[in-house]
Amino acid sequence: MKVLLVGSGGREHALAWAIRNSPRCDALLAAPGNPGIAALARCLDVSAEDVDGLARAAASEKADLVVVGPEAPLAKGLADRLAEARIPCFGPPAAGARLEASKIFAKELMRRHQIPTGRAQVFEDAVAARATLAGATAPLVVKADGLCAGKGVTVCQTAEEAIAAVDEALVEGRFGEAGRRVLVEDFLAGEEVSIQALTDGNSLLFLPTARDHKRIGDRDTGPNTGGMGAVSPAPGVSEALRAEVERDIFVPLLHALREEGIPFRGVLYAGLMLTRSGPKVLEWNVRFGDPETQVLLPRFGGDLLVALHAAATGHLERVKASEDPRPAVAVVVAAAGYPGKPRTGDPISGLERAESPPDVLVFQAGTALRDGRVLTSGGRVLAVMARGASVGEARRRAYEGLGKLSFTGMYFRKDIAQTPATRGL
Ligand code: GLY
Repeated sequence: MKVLLVGSGGREHALAWAIRNSPRCDALLAAPGNPGIAALARCLDVSAEDVDGLARAAASEKADLVVVGPEAPLAKGLADRLAEARIPCFGPPAAGARLEASKIFAKELMRRHQIPTGRAQVFEDAVAARATLAGATAPLVVKADGLCAGKGVTVCQTAEEAIAAVDEALVEGRFGEAGRRVLVEDFLAGEEVSIQALTDGNSLLFLPTARDHKRIGDRDTGPNTGGMGAVSPAPGVSEALRAEVERDIFVPLLHALREEGIPFRGVLYAGLMLTRSGPKVLEWNVRFGDPETQVLLPRFGGDLLVALHAAATGHLERVKASEDPRPAVAVVVAAAGYPGKPRTGDPISGLERAESPPDVLVFQAGTALRDGRVLTSGGRVLAVMARGASVGEARRRAYEGLGKLSFTGMYFRKDIAQTPATRGL
């Protein structure tokens, strides 16, 4: 099979590694890829958001399957374009990508189909929002409707803070078009977990569980990031809980998508809050988590390419997969300045020494190649993933690998897989 992988981050490097491990993979192309992916795939100079260019490349290269990493090209209709060209695509059409690209669409769909989620109100007029929210019971969560690169959610401790957050979006235009409408939700208390499953719209194949560490600083301090590390399995997600989430959340969602005429073929990522009255959906993503993918794929016991192709072509019920019982830990290495404007252009040394395949691997993300040297080019630069007999061993190996790397200003958390949220392992 000839596969075109879309994207350039650590998630896509992990996907490239898993796809390359499949005996069914004859050729792997990546658009645009990164220097790490380039060791596994032929990289094409096409941006991950250039839907026309990607559709043209898939057709001219005669790709048998396109695997889409990030959400943006899906929201822009890449899967729809590929469907017109009859090229199988792992990733939903734009109508399905709205689950992630419009929080209001997702909330209203869940409401219509009685899928457990928090109560929320929609506002597009700041005056009306102020009148409704004055004196409202806090805490509240204000969410910009559209895609905001993880920055569109504000947790507000008072009604005044919520009104200010609504004003930021509706009056000051902080999120541009993505913040033209907002959702104001009740704050849900509990423990947060995420669960991901492949689907062809009818069947579900649950992936190993994983949990990421969102804050920049040790002991979960400082601003939120895209994720500073991850561990798999996720602590606190028992088989009974997973089955409950399948029955009460994923199966009704598939039913809802079918009823609304949306053929969803790809991955469903549910961000959940485990509340006293059961799991409730905080958000849906229509792509693999990053950096969760970097720990869950190394534990996926099966041929990932076969599973992705089966999901893309409607035959997922035929695929069986197991799980590697060994835990995996990934520690993200970031550039100075992240999650603000990162320092870039610094040479990275020790990339090869840090790896000890197959159990200690480096997945590159914000890197670029110049004059034969790998340089930093983004906030989250790479992740060191290790598997081990226990979480402690996986953790030790990941940090040992990381210790062989260096670049000016490199930053990483020292407590990945060791915070209260992951101590239960
Ligand atoms: N790590 C969180 C996400 O991928 O959305």
